[in-house]
Amino acid sequence: MIRQKLTLAVNGAPVSAEIESRELLVHFLRDHAGTGTHIGCDTSQCGACTVQIDGKTAKSCTVLAVQAQGRTVTTIEGLGTPKSLTPLQQAFTEAHGLQCGFCTPGMIFAGQALLDRVPNPTEEQVREALHGNLCRCTGYQNIVSAILLAASRVQQAADSPAKPEEALR
Ligand code: FES
Ligand code: FES
Repeated sequence: MIRQKLTLAVNGAPVSAEIESRELLVHFLRDHAGTGTHIGCDTSQCGACTVQIDGKTAKSCTVLAVQAQGRTVTTIEGLGTPKSLTPLQQAFTEAHGLQCGFCTPGMIFAGQALLDRVPNPTEEQVREALHGNLCRCTGYQNIVSAILLAASRVQQAADSPAKPEEALR
């Protein structure tokens, strides 16, 4: 069994552990970084385990932890806080974009990646962006609505630079 020491930054804090080289990033995050990163399948299909690695979304069940050596990983715990949600998280709460919440971290990361790339997406583009994320509860409609709501709010904020904080409410 090959073991090696691994150090990476998780939500801004360094985390080190000696692990087996076959360990998946999602297990490293749960077992050594204390995050609640979800595991929803064993076929790399559900997207519940999605995180950002150096700012790019990745399914953490498809990445070996050693591949993240020296990198920066952001999990859902590293985004907004309950008192300071991101615009997309806020839109999910208002548009009822979740029920059980199991898929939600992955949906948030997938939606944010789209908005970073396409600030004003069409509904079709939103649905396409979610093709790697499965939800058992919502029927997707409210998730799509939440992402479109966040996009419209950020757009309003951009159009009203004098009072951007009001447009994000
Ligand atoms: Fe990673 Fe399902 S747990 S895609
Ligand atoms: Fe339950 Fe999506 S809200 S799986």
